[in-house]
Amino acid sequence: MATINKKTVLYLDRNENQYGPSPACFKVLQNSNDNLLNTYSRDFERGIKSSLSERLAYEFGTSEKKILLGYGSEDILKQAVQCYINKGDKIMIPSCSWWYYKKIADEAEGINVQYPIVEGKKSFCYDINSMINIFVTQKPKLVLISSPNNPTGNRLEADQLNVVLEKMKDTVIILDEAYSLFDETFKTDPVGLVNKYPNLIIIRTFSKYYALAGIRTGFAFLGDNHEKLSLLSARYLGFNRLSEKIAIAALDSADYYTAISRKLADDMEMLFNELNEISGFHAYKSYANFILVKIPPEIKNSLKQYLTERNIVIKFMNEDGLDTHVRITLGTHSQNCSLLEMMKTFMCKEIKHELVGGI
Ligand SMILES: Cc1ncc(COP(=O)(O)O)c(C=O)c1O
Repeated sequence: MATINKKTVLYLDRNENQYGPSPACFKVLQNSNDNLLNTYSRDFERGIKSSLSERLAYEFGTSEKKILLGYGSEDILKQAVQCYINKGDKIMIPSCSWWYYKKIADEAEGINVQYPIVEGKKSFCYDINSMINIFVTQKPKLVLISSPNNPTGNRLEADQLNVVLEKMKDTVIILDEAYSLFDETFKTDPVGLVNKYPNLIIIRTFSKYYALAGIRTGFAFLGDNHEKLSLLSARYLGFNRLSEKIAIAALDSADYYTAISRKLADDMEMLFNELNEISGFHAYKSYANFILVKIPPEIKNSLKQYLTERNIVIKFMNEDGLDTHVRITLGTHSQNCSLLEMMKTFMCKEIKHELVGGI
């Protein structure tokens, strides 16, 4: 049989975790047996939705009813928007954020109301005053907040979050925390928050920190007013049993993930400093596993080609206000070092080219 000569491309454009899941996750696959696949996963006797939601409830000290599982956090986001947004309802979305928010609002025929994420000197930031003004004048049915935000990497500080939640407590708020675990210096208390604010939904995922994008498992903490969403989302016969078991194995591997996230944090600092040293580059502080960098507009196409020829893909942004930016997902330490070297070599060549061209 003819073999297809596939080149290995390193995708640093998808915010995946290149370190991969913990060894315990692979053991689940090795130890699989018939029962794992041919029986429904629902625990009918005990009325538990899933062994995973039970475990998460235990881990976070809450009741299993308050945990929602989904096919990735994208699934929960879509279900929540479909549940609460009808044609013409307003939904508040951050200005520079994950394109998918706008898409799911459009699918529900909602009206997008953008609130600003503004560029500061070192990082992007939420502008809380504008956000609240827009909220008061527009009266949205749902507010979406992303912290840390994709692609800008900034987070909502604890005091800002408290102000926002207090001012908007009568409205459905979705706080997307897909990247929150990468930031060891700042932890929200999801259960405390949803207990205090019954309209709040906090969404997390196994895709990023736990390096399990392939098992498509996300989860949410629900405030008490979300029974409608909980019923809509209920899966009578259960969830994917393999995914449940792999996710539980990941939760059992805290030391493995802490070690990875420390490596990523060190590399984040290195990339932030070194990229900012490259002439014409401006890297923004990020609390996620990616970093946004402004590059000189004239090198956009040639840099893209240069990296493509070397089998590396990073995200060249096209969004309004971010069209001369790239978003780089952090890889392993050696991948990050090679990418940095490539960027530096490329820029040296560009400068030489300019000098020769200028004579
Ligand atoms: C901000 C944000 N939220 C949620 C997701 C979806 O993650 P998943 O569906 O894999 O849980 C992404 C994916 O990149 C994202 O950037």
